[in-house]
Amino acid sequence: KKVVLAYSGGLDTTVIIHWLIQNYNYEVIAVCVDVGQGKELDGLEERALSSGASKLYIENVVEDFVDDYVIPTVKSGAVYEGKYLLGTSMARPIISQKLVEIALKEGAEAICHGATGKGNDQVRFELTIKALAPHLKIIAPWRIWDIQSREDALDYCAEHGIEAPMKKEDSYSRDRNLWHLSHEGLDLELPENEPDYDNLLQMTVTPEKAPDEPTYIEIEFDKGTPVKLNGEEMNCTNILTKLNEIGGKNGIGLIDIVENRIVGMKSRGVYETPGGAILYYAHKELEYLCLDKQTLAYKDTLSIKFAELVYSGEWFTPLREALSAFVDSTQETVTGKVKLKLYKGNIISAGSSSPYSLYNESIASFTTGELYNHKDAEGFINLFGLPLKVRAMMFNNINSN
Ligand code: ARG
Ligand code: SIN
Repeated sequence: KKVVLAYSGGLDTTVIIHWLIQNYNYEVIAVCVDVGQGKELDGLEERALSSGASKLYIENVVEDFVDDYVIPTVKSGAVYEGKYLLGTSMARPIISQKLVEIALKEGAEAICHGATGKGNDQVRFELTIKALAPHLKIIAPWRIWDIQSREDALDYCAEHGIEAPMKKEDSYSRDRNLWHLSHEGLDLELPENEPDYDNLLQMTVTPEKAPDEPTYIEIEFDKGTPVKLNGEEMNCTNILTKLNEIGGKNGIGLIDIVENRIVGMKSRGVYETPGGAILYYAHKELEYLCLDKQTLAYKDTLSIKFAELVYSGEWFTPLREALSAFVDSTQETVTGKVKLKLYKGNIISAGSSSPYSLYNESIASFTTGELYNHKDAEGFINLFGLPLKVRAMMFNNINSN
């Protein structure tokens, strides 16, 4: 009997390997899906095998993550609860997709993950597995065993002679990929505390530490997809990598939010999304130029739903796919260049242009052009204001009777 385990090499998943063998007599196939967590993957195989796994797969899916999950989400404009740029949420479906792929290839009967019973991640992993391979069993040790804390896990290691992987004592609950780094737990659990940024931040800096000179950048989009940075053609992964570096230096993309989890509770998180914040801003900037009023407004309402779906792990659903089809159709003309000034945590527009721009100087200019006749405005306002006028007359009649 085989089980596929989402493996990171940390304390929890090390204990899980042992626990799966002891309790289920499984052959454990460890899988580490690389979405750009930037961790040393050297030595991971040896660690997995010495912990009892029969083999370790390391799957680098960074480019697919960016092209197939990140960019569609950027195009949709999805932001959860007005702040969170969905970094962890977007990564879970592709990780689960890989776990499923390997489970099918290996003929495993179950998939096991190390997410807790209180969080969002369990929901995201499991919804994806159900959507892609409904026959697979799912094992979530945190919802089953007696281990409640890091200390318990260390005790488990001591009891069973497992060599515990070393990790910093004061560790926040963190999740990293190419798009973002999240921090939860410890002092952040009290919303009244200001985050201890000096100890927290790894991708970006506080505005105080950003340079006193602004940095200008230019991003070029083709149908909503970024294709050039500062005039240089690059794939999305390289653009994002570069933007993380530039944005990080300038203190961009720091988010502190009390969010509503899928499982009902509010939780507080700090997120670093330097490159992502820039991409969202630049993309939206181009939409302001290229989308008509109605499409822009309607898309804004859909982006809220899109964010809810991504946050809740409903990537592989008919609605998410249908919304993506709508979004793609709106992006046909979202092509052009956006210049931005980055300065101490701020993203400031510095001009944009597009061959599909709907901005017409001769119409918008204060000096009269051919296409716009001031006189037309009078009749327009008379009809536009007619309901207001009728209502006011009605009240006047009632009051005078
Ligand atoms: N609260 C964020 C989310 O639900 C971040 C979760 C981070 N996950 C983790 N295993 N540390 O998307
Ligand atoms: C976890 O509980 O495993 C991490 C936090 C989350 O999933 O929201």
